[in-house]
Amino acid sequence: MADHAPRLRARLDHIAINSPEPERMAEFYRLAMDLRLERLSNNLWLCEAPRRRLLIVKGEAKTLAFGAYAVDEPDLLAAVRKRVVDSGAKLERSESSLLTGDSLMVKDPDGNRIAFGMPVPEKSSDTPALPARLQHLVFGSDEVSRIADFYERVLGFTVSDRVFDKTGKLTNCFFRADRGDHHILAIFPSDQKKLDHHCYESIDWGSIRDWADQLSSRGVSIAWGPGRHGPGANLFIMVRDPDGNWVEISAELEQVEAEHPAGVWEHGPLVANRWGQPRLTV
Ligand SMILES: [Fe+2]
Repeated sequence: MADHAPRLRARLDHIAINSPEPERMAEFYRLAMDLRLERLSNNLWLCEAPRRRLLIVKGEAKTLAFGAYAVDEPDLLAAVRKRVVDSGAKLERSESSLLTGDSLMVKDPDGNRIAFGMPVPEKSSDTPALPARLQHLVFGSDEVSRIADFYERVLGFTVSDRVFDKTGKLTNCFFRADRGDHHILAIFPSDQKKLDHHCYESIDWGSIRDWADQLSSRGVSIAWGPGRHGPGANLFIMVRDPDGNWVEISAELEQVEAEHPAGVWEHGPLVANRWGQPRLTV
């Protein structure tokens, strides 16, 4: 595959989370995240608010049915398609009802499915909701280097930061799309292949406070944070949904220019949280 192929320009539009109890999960996200629910079929729920939407599908807990990245123009989608075809990876038809017909889907070497396409417009809503846009997705993998290579070479994501342990092994990799948000996808180390977390980007420190107040008033405890990540430098709090998936509210994520070279970090506790408090469970 030609290395001069254009880099990916896209943003995370929606995700589809598997759950053995999709109705319970949908109700959690409605309550915690101010999402309007729509039952699309017996075991499929759409949860939507301005700039954040997810699908809840009946399936195995702590796995993702797919993550869907939006491109703004057909030429950008054609570029993704060409990269995938040129790499020899298998193209699948996207099953997301939130992408228009010409979308595509590809499976990474861990079996995670990623869709690309032009999104269908959000439905308008008058329901008041705290601001936060669905922003990034993180997979756990026992083969970080192999998976990271796929996202960089085959899909054209741009590396913002790599984290290495003392032996030189890649432990974490943070990807952006050309320019803008420091990461829209990341791969973290794990002894199993799984969804690590998904994140909603709010505005500032005050909005983190507002989210913490709202979540606690609705019976959702902060499970990690507040803190500030190393790579990306974003402020964060994290909660867990009923299946144990980590859900992040973030603010002040670093913005990165297209030509910014990839950074290098040494693996250690301050990578996850510059303020020191580690995530105690995974
Ligand atoms: Fe995150």
